[in-house]
Amino acid sequence: MGIQFTKVNYRYPGWGRETYGAIADVTLSISAKDEFIALVGHTGSGKSTLAQHMNALMFPTSGTVEIFGIPVTAKRNKKTDYNSLRKRVGLVFQFPEYQLFEETVEKDIMFGPRNFRITEEDAREMAKNALKMVGLSENYLRRNPFNLSGGEKKRVSIAGILAMNPDVLVLDEPTSGLDPRGKHTLMELFRSIREETGKTIIFITHDMDLVYRYADRVLVLEAGSLVFDGTPDKLFRDPDLERWHLDYPATLSVLDNVKKSLGWDLDIYQNTVGKAADELKRAVRRP
Ligand SMILES: Nc1ncnc2c1ncn2[C@@H]1O[C@H](COP(=O)(O)OP(=O)(O)OP(=O)(O)O)[C@@H](O)[C@H]1O
Ligand SMILES: [Mg+2]
Repeated sequence: MGIQFTKVNYRYPGWGRETYGAIADVTLSISAKDEFIALVGHTGSGKSTLAQHMNALMFPTSGTVEIFGIPVTAKRNKKTDYNSLRKRVGLVFQFPEYQLFEETVEKDIMFGPRNFRITEEDAREMAKNALKMVGLSENYLRRNPFNLSGGEKKRVSIAGILAMNPDVLVLDEPTSGLDPRGKHTLMELFRSIREETGKTIIFITHDMDLVYRYADRVLVLEAGSLVFDGTPDKLFRDPDLERWHLDYPATLSVLDNVKKSLGWDLDIYQNTVGKAADELKRAVRRP
């Protein structure tokens, strides 16, 4: 039992009836365990809106999102504790400013655990550990979150969600604004969380290199509709990827270019720079 979308539509207030919704008739099943999913699509395709339906922050205009067996529909149920769903499905916002609000980093990260009745001492320890996980030293605990750099804010907002230890992690562009090395360190952290705990992780990104390298499954949104649900290998073998305004990963583009221009017999579907280099070396060495 994980997250099940059934015929979900969402229309922001003020949108005309004649236009499609921000989410259009999405049916989708996400397991509670062991998935590493990339959610992609061009700007405005509905990724952040869909993400906010995964933990009942937003309620569908029609259709049902079932989160760990609890139905979330347009009509609020007074008996449902929607907050408990937000603890189980931790959502990191696209813009950290939406999430950070306390006067110190420590208080900010402690807020989630404290809200779920963890003692102050334990919450403090959790904050320290979470900060370490995202690669920031303890010196940051006393800092004001609003005076941090963009990348640091992003890391602190991720730490705040990690500290709550949710069952499922939904990360809205977790690597945007980070330097290239920081991106991979963070993605490796998510990968190790997934491997060690079996938690399902869903990340939104525009970076196809990250999708190819880390995700097991890709969801593509186009104008609010789910137009692809499958493996990265299947997605990037699709000759019509551009119709969804998506790029090919760099490794694949380079190998494809070499293959076509030099006529080399290459397996271009390599998802890391290292593997692409090995494939080129193999082709060069071949007698
Ligand atoms: N608060 C809002 N009120 C009205 N329309 C909105 C609101 N938030 C988003 N939208 C619209 O809904 C659509 C989907 O927006 P959303 O933020 O989900 O896209 P996205 O795929 O996350 O884009 P990006 O890649 O730029 O983050 C867009 O057309 C956007 O303009
Ligand atoms: Mg977005």
